[in-house]
Amino acid sequence: MLELQAVGKTFGELQALHGIDLHVRRGTVSGLIGPNGSGKTTLVNIITGIYAPDSGRVLLDGKDVSRASADQITRLGVSRSFQNIRIFNRMSVLENVIAALIGHHKPGLATLLGRAKRIGDPRVTAARRALETVGLLEQGDLFANELPLPLRRRLEIARALACDPKFLVLDEPAGGMTPAETASISELIRSRIAPGRTCVVIEHKMDLISHVCEHLCVLNHGEKIAEGDPRSVVNQPEVIEAYLG
Ligand SMILES: Nc1ncnc2c1ncn2[C@@H]1O[C@H](COP(=O)(O)OP(=O)(O)OP(=O)(O)O)[C@@H](O)[C@H]1O
Ligand SMILES: [Mg+2]
Repeated sequence: MLELQAVGKTFGELQALHGIDLHVRRGTVSGLIGPNGSGKTTLVNIITGIYAPDSGRVLLDGKDVSRASADQITRLGVSRSFQNIRIFNRMSVLENVIAALIGHHKPGLATLLGRAKRIGDPRVTAARRALETVGLLEQGDLFANELPLPLRRRLEIARALACDPKFLVLDEPAGGMTPAETASISELIRSRIAPGRTCVVIEHKMDLISHVCEHLCVLNHGEKIAEGDPRSVVNQPEVIEAYLG
């Protein structure tokens, strides 16, 4: 499904990723963990076409997408949520999801939104389905900034889900949440979001990782230091020293 071959990325003097190899099998949920600044979000930015790798290749279903734009990657069925929530506070919850389908950069978003809502556009149906999946359908008419943080994170995920991606990356879906809120989002990912898709989940919360992931990869200073079954990976001395200790 997704394969990274020796992917490297530098920002000026900083080598953010060194020769990363990664294979994500279709229909699985893989976790990506590592200390702050270890390169997790950079890797996701490369997978989703925001950055091109300086070296190495990214293959999606065997096709080299290393130089594909973010829009092209989206059209290939890849979507993501953002670590820093990107929602429009003064739009309704439903409008936020429709806007994700229309594309933020389109001029006249407000007009397009109004038109989509008037004529029963299929994007409205898709947006409502995504809200239903994350349990936010009843809140559809609230302003997004009326939602508490855990529900804003769900809205961020709904925006990524609206295009019904076959490959979904979640960047810290439980960021800033309490243990109870984390347990709730973990269960949602496992039971409603992951089935039928291939997912990569970045998280610092190991409870979530162990609940949802069947494969785990650990980055440290831009290098992959371990991967495999989550239970065995978290017991490796190098992982404990770099991250869990
Ligand atoms: N656009 C950029 N320009 C310059 N440096 C960058 C850029 N993006 C990331 N970096 C640097 O690359 C390194 C990896 O950052 P990245 O955001 O990928 O880490 P991360 O593992 O996602 O961290 P966190 O857990 O804090 O989210 C960091 O040193 C960061 O400062
Ligand atoms: Mg990050």
